[in-house]
Amino acid sequence: MKQGFSTTSVHGGKKKEELNGSKTLPIYQTSVFTFKDLDESEAYYQHGDRYMYTRMGNPNQRALGEAVAQLEDGSDGVATSSGMSAILAAILTYVGQGDHILCNEEIYGGTSTLLEHELSRFGIETTFVDLTDELSWSKAIKKETKLLITEVITNPLLKVIDIRRVVEIARNHGIKVVVDNTFTTPYLTKPLQIGADLVVHSATKYIGGHSDVTAGVVVGHQPDINRVKEITVRYGSSLSPFEAWLGSRGLKTLALRMEKQCSNALQVANFLDAHPKVKEVYFPGLITHPHHLLATDWFGEKYGAVVSFTISDESRINEVFRGFSLIKYAPTLAGVESIVSHPETTSHRYWDEDRRIKAGITKGLIRLSVGVEDVEDIIEDLDRALNMR
Ligand SMILES: Cc1ncc(COP(=O)(O)O)c(C=O)c1O
Repeated sequence: MKQGFSTTSVHGGKKKEELNGSKTLPIYQTSVFTFKDLDESEAYYQHGDRYMYTRMGNPNQRALGEAVAQLEDGSDGVATSSGMSAILAAILTYVGQGDHILCNEEIYGGTSTLLEHELSRFGIETTFVDLTDELSWSKAIKKETKLLITEVITNPLLKVIDIRRVVEIARNHGIKVVVDNTFTTPYLTKPLQIGADLVVHSATKYIGGHSDVTAGVVVGHQPDINRVKEITVRYGSSLSPFEAWLGSRGLKTLALRMEKQCSNALQVANFLDAHPKVKEVYFPGLITHPHHLLATDWFGEKYGAVVSFTISDESRINEVFRGFSLIKYAPTLAGVESIVSHPETTSHRYWDEDRRIKAGITKGLIRLSVGVEDVEDIIEDLDRALNMR
């Protein structure tokens, strides 16, 4: 029988490694596994149904990969050392020298830097396109285009990409689609169900949920996911057992956290929208947002828990940051605590200034990741910081 989302979050992943009645999966803090004889090691190579060396596989990595795969409706998942290594493994699954990638122009800065400054050195070319403009982006498809990469709700300006439509067009051209579902999580949407080939997560964010783990996950179906595993092992980007264990622990409360954070974020967005010191609010839950209807239809009135906004007087940006008390300034998102970040000088600082300005990533832009605190306290802290002199 198919379980509900919360049940799968709590009980997901195979539990065969639980020993001595342990309620939770023990941490297999070992770099290697022993064999009693050559037959046993040979059986590992033939059937792969046990573990040999942690870089090549470990019960804690498996537990996290399988649990996220179950939530995403994938067949299997691979836990990696960070969100970036998950993205790299997903990209290398589909492209090699001479291939071309299409990437949504508004994307996490680390992803665009990887494409522009690293993969370009190996003859992999990327064109950045606006996936909200179908006519223009579909013109950028070439015969060498093998892959399209996008997030669902973009970072930091929170546009909603119509993945269904993007997949449809990509499929018609034999292009694979990798979706970064970090912001939305499978609680809001499951891109594999609508035709994406691989889904990646920075599990550092909502999967872990407590700002205490750096991890990534790639999920999908065979044979692609086997190739992801091979790349992760060969490039040495497997996840450590303890980090995997933390990721699995965080995952158990994903539904509870998302429910509260999404609800808090909607209230915070409405508060900011009415605030005299705020110029613009970017949040798909606001009816004025250009993708509000798509988001409502698709996510069922949950819009994620990141709200971006610009302040009216951007020369006061540092005073506003100094004015936060409950809300901390840190270049991350998704934890249980509310966090603000400054995209211009952190996540997107390596973009050219022209590109940042064109995209709307200005000095006055603040990205707020709304936590699980009482919403009145978050709002009070925002109001104090915005009125700071
Ligand atoms: C949407 C998104 N994808 C990927 C990453 C990279 O994840 P990590 O920092 O775990 O490598 C981030 C980091 O902020 C992110 O926001």
